[in-house]
Amino acid sequence: MQKKVFIKTFGCQMNEYDSSRIYDSIKKIGFIKTEKQDSANCYILNTCHIRDKAKEKVYHEVGRVKQLYSKKNKPIMVVAGCVAQAENEEMLKREPYIDIVIGPQSYHKINQILLNFTEKEKKEITEFDTVKKFEYFDKIENKSNRVSSFLTIQEGCDKFCHFCVVPFTRGPEYSRPFNKIIDEAEKLIKNGSKEITLIGQNVNAYSYKKDSKVYKISNLINELEKFSELERIRYTTSHPRDMTDDLIDCYVTSKKLMPFIHLPIQSGSNRILKLMNRKHTVEEYLEIYNKLKKINSKIEFSSDFIISYPGETVKEFNETIELIKKIRFINSYSFIFSPRPGTKAAGLELISDEISKDRLLKVQEILFSHQLEMNQSFENKYIDVLVENKTKKGNQLFGRNKYLNSVIFKGDEKNIGKITKVKIESCNQNSLFGEIVHKNMKAA
Ligand code: SAM
Ligand code: SF4
Ligand code: F3S
Repeated sequence: MQKKVFIKTFGCQMNEYDSSRIYDSIKKIGFIKTEKQDSANCYILNTCHIRDKAKEKVYHEVGRVKQLYSKKNKPIMVVAGCVAQAENEEMLKREPYIDIVIGPQSYHKINQILLNFTEKEKKEITEFDTVKKFEYFDKIENKSNRVSSFLTIQEGCDKFCHFCVVPFTRGPEYSRPFNKIIDEAEKLIKNGSKEITLIGQNVNAYSYKKDSKVYKISNLINELEKFSELERIRYTTSHPRDMTDDLIDCYVTSKKLMPFIHLPIQSGSNRILKLMNRKHTVEEYLEIYNKLKKINSKIEFSSDFIISYPGETVKEFNETIELIKKIRFINSYSFIFSPRPGTKAAGLELISDEISKDRLLKVQEILFSHQLEMNQSFENKYIDVLVENKTKKGNQLFGRNKYLNSVIFKGDEKNIGKITKVKIESCNQNSLFGEIVHKNMKAA
C-alpha cells in the first residue's frame, strides 16, 4: 500500500540535503511525498537548533500537527535534525504525540524504524554513526532532479566556537570518500543538475585520505570542473581558517567556480573573535579577501554576523560596522547572540535587549543598503542567469545570477536548465526582475 509522507524542513542546507535523502530512502518502503500537510501517514519535522527558542518552536509545531489531525488518523510523528539530537529522549517524555526522535547521524536507520514502528514502542536514535549514514546513502541513488543541487561532502565540526551548538548536534568532523562524492555528482548531472553546491558545516575543512594522498575541497572542485554538462560550482559554508592557498588557486584555474563566497566572520573586533574562539583575526580575514580580489576584482563576499556577543563594547561593535563598510558584503546574515544550552558562552551575561536590537538595526541598515546598491547596479544590464524553474504562480521564471541573486523574469520555460541572458528592468533588496533577451548581449 502506498503511504504518504509530509516533510517540513528548518535550518541550513545540510538539513535540506538530509530531507531529500531521507525521502530517497523511505520511498523504497512505499512512502510517497504529499504537499498536503494534513493528509500524511508520516509527518517528519527536520529541525534546527542554532538560535532562539528552537526547542519550544518544535513543540509548537507538533501542537499544530496535533490540531491538523484531531479528526483524522494520527500520522507517525517523527522529529529529526539538530533539536532531535540535542533533546533526544526528553522529547518523547514531554510530548507523547511524538513517536520517533532521530538525530542527523542516524538516518540510515529510518526505514527499519518506520517498518517496525508500533504505537506502543516509541523510538529515540541519536548515535553519531556518520560513517554508516553515508555508507547507507551511497547505496541509495540521489534522485534529485533539480537544476541546482546540494551535495554534502563533509559533516560536523571540531572548532567549537563558544556560541555554537553544531559540534554537539552534528558531532565531530567527517569527510566523505572522494570517489563517492564524485559518483554522486555524476548522477546528479545525469539527472539534469547544471549547478552543484558542495555543502558542509565546515565545507572547506574537507580532508579525505586514501593511499597516502590527501584530497581537499580544491581536488573536488578540479574534478567537478571536468564534467562538461556542469555549468556552475559553489561551496558553503566556509571557515576563514580553512581558506588555504590551494582553494584560493581554484579561482585562477576554474571556469565554473562562481565568484561569490560566503565567508562568515561574526565580528570585526579581534577581542570578540578571541572570546568567541573563532581561531582567526580580522587581519587574517582581510588577507584572504585581498588575495581573492587580486585574482578577480569581481569576486564578491557575504558573511554571518553575531551582534551583541557577551562583553561587546560600543567600540567593538563599531569595528564590525567599519569592517562591513570596508568589504561591502553583498548579502549577509546577522543575528543577535542567542545563548545555546551546553555551549561555553551559554552562561555569560547578556547585553540588554534594547542595546542589542539597536545594534542589529544599525548593522542591517548598512548591510541592506549595500545589498540594494549591488542589485541596482544590474538595472538595465544583461546578465547570465541559470534558469531553475517556474515561479509558484507559474507565469514567470526563476533563476540565479553568478552572485546567487534571485532573478524573476518573463520568458519561455524551454529555457529551464540553461544559462540565459536576462535584461534586468528593476530590483528590490532581495530580487532582480527582468525579461529574457534573445540578442547576443555581453553579460554584466
Ligand atoms: N560553520 C560556519 C562558520 O564557521 O561560520 C557557520 C555555521 S552556523 C550553522 C551559521 C551561523 O549561525 C553562524 O555563522 C553564526 O553567525 C550563527 N550562529 C551560530 N550560533 C549562534 C548563536 N548562538 N547566536 C546567534 N547566531 C549564531
Ligand atoms: Fe559552529 Fe564555529 Fe563550527 Fe561554524 S566553525 S559550525 S560557527 S562551531
Ligand atoms: Fe541548524 Fe543544525 Fe544546520 S542547528 S543551522 S540545522 S547544522
